[in-house]
Amino acid sequence: MDLRGKTALITGSTGKIGRFLAETLAQEGVQCLCQYHRQDRLAHKLVQGIRRRGGRAFAFQSDFQDAEQIRRLFQDAQKHGPIDILIHSAGLFEKTPLKTCTEQQIEDLIRLNLTVPLFLTRLFVKSHFSSGRKRPFAKVLFFADIGALRPWRDYSAYCAAKAGLTAAARSLAKELAPGITVNAVAPGIVEGTIRNRKEAAERRKKIPTGRFVPMGDLMEAVLFLLKTDSITGEVLTVDGGAVL
Ligand SMILES: NC(=O)c1ccc[n+]([C@@H]2O[C@H](COP(=O)([O-])OP(=O)(O)OC[C@H]3O[C@@H](n4cnc5c(N)ncnc54)[C@H](OP(=O)(O)O)[C@@H]3O)[C@@H](O)[C@H]2O)c1
Repeated sequence: MDLRGKTALITGSTGKIGRFLAETLAQEGVQCLCQYHRQDRLAHKLVQGIRRRGGRAFAFQSDFQDAEQIRRLFQDAQKHGPIDILIHSAGLFEKTPLKTCTEQQIEDLIRLNLTVPLFLTRLFVKSHFSSGRKRPFAKVLFFADIGALRPWRDYSAYCAAKAGLTAAARSLAKELAPGITVNAVAPGIVEGTIRNRKEAAERRKKIPTGRFVPMGDLMEAVLFLLKTDSITGEVLTVDGGAVL
């Protein structure tokens, strides 16, 4: 499916992955509605950069810990036309060893990584099916993690939320067919994520390909899922074999 002329709402667009998502989709001719939380300057730089290259992009600030701001984001984003693609890349990654973590930390992790994508998908679905217009194409893409498939010690809230997200993608793929496809990518460690050189070298040794996931490879996987209408309910691991 040609993405040209479509509109995508991308959450977490100021993240390490999110900014590449926006730039990649803009290059494909997609209008990018870029959500961010704290990084105003980065969000506006991203949007200006896309516009300078002839693309269409807008930035929207919101804090997903507040449900009202989720609704407001969706309303504001929709003013730029019906949304065809929803990508939830915003996320929170934190240890929660149960002996020391707080209840609030657990709630925040579950909320941002699982509850918010479901809330946003609900708004997306309602607007898609209520528009009355026959729209042949709509896509939801979640960002899971290989921690959903092979959980790590001390990250129970994060891993549980991401595992829940993969289950949600598969359930929603059934519920929302045939109008909307729902998929997830489960990245391993993406290039640029681990800054400590010694730690990075140790981690690389444990990955069969011997390297972190290049951003270009992750973007290829995203485009593949967005462009291929016959794939739904898929959780695509992009991890250099780390989960094996
Ligand atoms: N990087 C990796 O190696 C990796 C590996 C596996 C899975 N993933 C998953 O891929 C996704 C993207 O990862 P990333 O590395 O790009 O993450 P990141 O760099 O930590 O970025 C997180 C994004 O979420 C936004 N955000 C954080 N708290 C928020 C809140 N309360 N309300 C609204 N937005 C909020 C941030 O906005 P501001 O920056 O504006 O504050 C930022 O845009 C995440 O879901 C992550 O779990 C990443």
